[in-house]
Amino acid sequence: MKYKRILLKLSGESLMGDKAFGIDNNRLSLYAQQIKKIHENGVEIAIVIGGGNIFRGVQAEEGGMDRSHGDYMGMLATMINSMALQAALESAGVETRLQSAIEMKAICEPFIKRKALRHLEKGRVVIFGAGTGNPFFTTDSAASLRAIELNADVILKGTRVDGIYSADPEKDPNATKYDVISFDDVYKKDLSIMDMTAFTLCKENNLPIIVFDMDTPGNLQKVLNGEQVGTIVRN
Ligand code: GTP
Repeated sequence: MKYKRILLKLSGESLMGDKAFGIDNNRLSLYAQQIKKIHENGVEIAIVIGGGNIFRGVQAEEGGMDRSHGDYMGMLATMINSMALQAALESAGVETRLQSAIEMKAICEPFIKRKALRHLEKGRVVIFGAGTGNPFFTTDSAASLRAIELNADVILKGTRVDGIYSADPEKDPNATKYDVISFDDVYKKDLSIMDMTAFTLCKENNLPIIVFDMDTPGNLQKVLNGEQVGTIVRN
């Protein structure tokens, strides 16, 4: 395996599958199966999942709600997805631990870095819920932060697109996909991969990001095998 310890960032919206809202069980088990495969190869796996299939902080602001209030609701949405993913992984036979950035004693452990590391060493998949625990940060920022804290080798950003393009491939027929791109070029070309806070954290800590299509079964395994899948961003 090319990477020993990874942070997998999953999109909440992708969990909807073909549904308009909530969680598609087929998609959920598809993700669990893919994760199980790489887990069997001995990769240490930490996961951060978004909450956009349930609630988005920005959406609250549009409705006149205070932004931070909305962001906390979004953090709870990530907990629902995290619990669903935890259950799916465990029913696939993968041992997991869920840690929340906001204490929810009845549901899971609080985020404790040393405990998370221990879980990884013992071969447990660790899921981090509730983002960073702070409003005004995205789950991409949570993923970057946790990846850096845990010394992960890479962030694997699973999306619905198969990489980073020079332009929006749905609008521009001349858009081309990058196999490799530097952090600086992403800035210069104004390509959007993650929000700037998350992106800068990765750049400054020399943490590569691979953007790939998680919805195609087998892709996650290919990324771990070091095959050319998606786009890698690095210094
Ligand atoms: P080791 O000490 O490395 O064996 O890890 P462990 O996770 O098995 O130990 P621990 O005894 O801390 O946890 C046992 C179970 O309780 C695990 O499923 C944890 O996720 C869960 N657990 C631990 N702390 C909390 C907590 O504060 N709240 C909740 N709800 N569950 C917890």
